[in-house]
Amino acid sequence: MADTLTVKDNRTGKEYEIEISDGTVRAADFRGIKVDDDDFGLMLYDPAFKNTASCRSAITLIDGDKGILRYRGYPIEQLAEQSTFLEVAYLLLWGELPNESELAEWSDQITNHTYVHQYLIRGMEGFKWDAHAMGKMVSLLGTLSTFYEDSKQVRDASVRREHIIKIIAKMPTIAAWCFRHMQGRPYIYPDNELGYVGNFMNMLFRMAEPSYKPNPVIARALDVLFILHADHEQNCSASAARAVGSAETDPYCSLAAASAALYGPLHGGANEAVLRMLREIGNVGNIPGFIEGVKNRERRLMGFGHRVYKNYDPRARIIKGLAHEVFAVTGKNPLLDIALELEKIALDDDFFVSRKLYPNVDFYSGLIYQSIGFPVEFFPVLFAIPRAVGWLAQWQEMLSDAEQKIARPRQIYVGADKRDYVPMSERG
Ligand SMILES: CC(C)(COP(=O)(O)OP(=O)(O)OC[C@H]1O[C@@H](n2cnc3c(N)ncnc32)[C@H](O)[C@@H]1OP(=O)(O)O)[C@@H](O)C(=O)NCCC(=O)NCCS
Repeated sequence: MADTLTVKDNRTGKEYEIEISDGTVRAADFRGIKVDDDDFGLMLYDPAFKNTASCRSAITLIDGDKGILRYRGYPIEQLAEQSTFLEVAYLLLWGELPNESELAEWSDQITNHTYVHQYLIRGMEGFKWDAHAMGKMVSLLGTLSTFYEDSKQVRDASVRREHIIKIIAKMPTIAAWCFRHMQGRPYIYPDNELGYVGNFMNMLFRMAEPSYKPNPVIARALDVLFILHADHEQNCSASAARAVGSAETDPYCSLAAASAALYGPLHGGANEAVLRMLREIGNVGNIPGFIEGVKNRERRLMGFGHRVYKNYDPRARIIKGLAHEVFAVTGKNPLLDIALELEKIALDDDFFVSRKLYPNVDFYSGLIYQSIGFPVEFFPVLFAIPRAVGWLAQWQEMLSDAEQKIARPRQIYVGADKRDYVPMSERG
């Protein structure tokens, strides 16, 4: 049996044989299907890329129907249980788990780049104290590009590696300083004696103590959350990083674009929206009325549903377990009962079951973040720090892929036909 698709164009009666490989046909192969020589050829129309692969990727696999997520072949459950965020970052970026000396060198390199240029503080000070932290992150990432002229050499693998390290190292510093700025507290400089997450907590929370000792349960919980958020294949923000990066824009600006995509409430802003929703519901008794509102399409159940997962998001399951460990330290978040009941009712309701709407990664993560002491506006920032690794892995893969070019979708023009300019005096 040939791996081809036979297409008959009923406008002309002609038949075409289109090659199938990896369960995919190439859109460009349809361009040869024409009515006559003046015809542009067939295009594929796929708003929101619901069924279009834009790249070949060896980084992350999601099987949405089975609820499977793997980084470079390793199941997310095993990585969450046995690995660390920096090790996972290495895996995502360079394809294999590091050996002991590779991991030591990698951690060392990241630790040595955690400081940011002092002038970045001037950028921070330009914001109002209550500016949304994500708006600051987007701007400051773009600002960083102005400190590193050489980062424009995106075709040079060694330059890329240098800036990949810088970005992973500096994300927690910038994020923590956004947090301190929000609170009117002095910025805390990195403590390179601490690990990646421990140092982040130091820059967030340290006050007058001479040295900061992160709570190991909270530090491990944040590390696991970072692992779970590190990559998610061709999502909206990774696609933004690839699309902007395809113009050979430097990685800082490409990641600023990705962060801007992440900022949206349908993407990384969803956990913020979940918390607001849980607060608004207020108590378990109000859930049935709320669910009715969702079913009447007055609103969405935030933290539910996913473009790819049509099963329980495996990250949501891990986070639900993690929540109990964190609450043992911080005390139970009172919104947890509302979330658990909401999940129970929704998973039993035909509206959600028939549409395969399950809790996604954002449903429980916000509860943990809130219990650790983060305001909701900071949640997307906590997503952006680890996701920077995924963006960089996707960006690097795109640049190394000989088939990729500057991203440029086609359109179906539905506007006015050619018409002549009408002088103002003749307009009605
Ligand atoms: C994530 C999301 C944007 C995916 O959207 P999508 O793939 O475009 O799916 P659609 O919007 O086509 O939804 C399919 C159906 O499910 C419904 N639906 C999807 N998510 C829903 C939700 N959270 N609450 C209620 N209904 C929902 C839609 O109304 C639609 O119903 P219909 O076919 O009767 O019109 C969407 O599920 C959503 O808005 N979720 C809430 C936000 C969120 O948690 N985002 C974080 C993602 S990690």
